[in-house]
Amino acid sequence: MSALPPLNRRDGRPTLAIVGATGAVGTVMLDILSTRTDVWGDIRLIASPRSAGKKLRVRGEELEVVALSEEAFEGVDIAMFDVPDEVSAQWAPVAAAKGAVAVDNSGAFRMDADVPLVVPEVNPDQAKNRPRGIISNPNCTTLSMIVALGALHREYTLRELVVSSYQAASGAGQPGVDALREQIAKVAGDTTLGTQAGDVRRVIGDTGPFPAPLALNVVPWAGSLKDGGWSSEELKVRNESRKILGLPGLRVNATCVRVPVVTTHSLTVHAVFESEVDQARAQAVLAEAPGVVLCDDPANYEFPTPADVVGTDPTWVGRVRRSLDDPNALDLFLCGDNLRKGAALNTAQIAELVAEEFTER
Ligand SMILES: NC(=O)c1ccc[n+]([C@@H]2O[C@H](COP(=O)([O-])OP(=O)(O)OC[C@H]3O[C@@H](n4cnc5c(N)ncnc54)[C@H](OP(=O)(O)O)[C@@H]3O)[C@@H](O)[C@H]2O)c1
Repeated sequence: MSALPPLNRRDGRPTLAIVGATGAVGTVMLDILSTRTDVWGDIRLIASPRSAGKKLRVRGEELEVVALSEEAFEGVDIAMFDVPDEVSAQWAPVAAAKGAVAVDNSGAFRMDADVPLVVPEVNPDQAKNRPRGIISNPNCTTLSMIVALGALHREYTLRELVVSSYQAASGAGQPGVDALREQIAKVAGDTTLGTQAGDVRRVIGDTGPFPAPLALNVVPWAGSLKDGGWSSEELKVRNESRKILGLPGLRVNATCVRVPVVTTHSLTVHAVFESEVDQARAQAVLAEAPGVVLCDDPANYEFPTPADVVGTDPTWVGRVRRSLDDPNALDLFLCGDNLRKGAALNTAQIAELVAEEFTER
């Protein structure tokens, strides 16, 4: 194993560790940290022993990746975890025991009552309420809608959500992206496909991490099977929305669907509120909300699409309509980059909130 590089505190600024720096989310994280206002002292890159010694660039500097170990958290103030659930479950408490604040992107702690689930635009104060020294980052589907819904909730008070997702392949990590690209290559140029039941499936063969072909198709499934036919992804949307908004009784029905998009989740949301809504006021609330872009001019075919949103930071909202049958309900279409706000960006924002505590000392 390579020796740990020395940490040199810069101007008393906090030291950051990125665990999982070599992964899909970790790679976007390095890019985000290189472009946002730099609040960090030293940065330490951590991954599995397979990646130890590898060199990666962040903030214009080349840094060596070190293997995950207890010593790797020595001198670290804040540790981001962009690793599988089981790795976070084991190692985030180790980082916390070493005195670091762990900000975890996995699903390991999201529903733990002693771990806050934080979206800085919605519930920033919760970042300080961390008895285990761990803060969780919500799942990418919830994150792709919750900033906009939080703004509408502050105006009208949410009562119920009916959500359909149109989720990108990269939500299933790098293997998901690789599988979609391979499938697209297999079907490209064949002008007969998509006309007979099973013809796409026969050409594609192995469907990779998806339970059905994704190219030329949509697949009504993401995650694992839970009671009553619900998928784990659908339950995450329900449980995490309730926790972030502090609404344990919020009624939520979600149907999660995978679509042949590389990155950027889209959602339709039917949101029911305690008070009567107004289309123009709702549009104004969304236009003013930090982290939200309103793109809503259907007369000129202006609405968000994943192809236009990918690589950007905000939650994009369009098709804002008052329900024809319920004066208390709005219907919306939202898009958010699942690797940026849906994962790395929100984690970076949480870490920056915690970094302020170090700088305030
Ligand atoms: N993809 C998304 O849209 C998304 C969105 C929100 C949250 N998340 C969550 O973010 C986490 C990372 O996802 P990802 O898509 O970036 O996964 P990924 O591409 O598979 O990357 C996994 C990372 O974890 C590291 N790792 C794996 N096993 C390890 C071990 N035993 N010890 C130390 N490091 C280990 C890998 O290091 P090596 O390269 O050395 O193997 C790699 O850096 C997951 O919990 C995921 O659920 C993903």
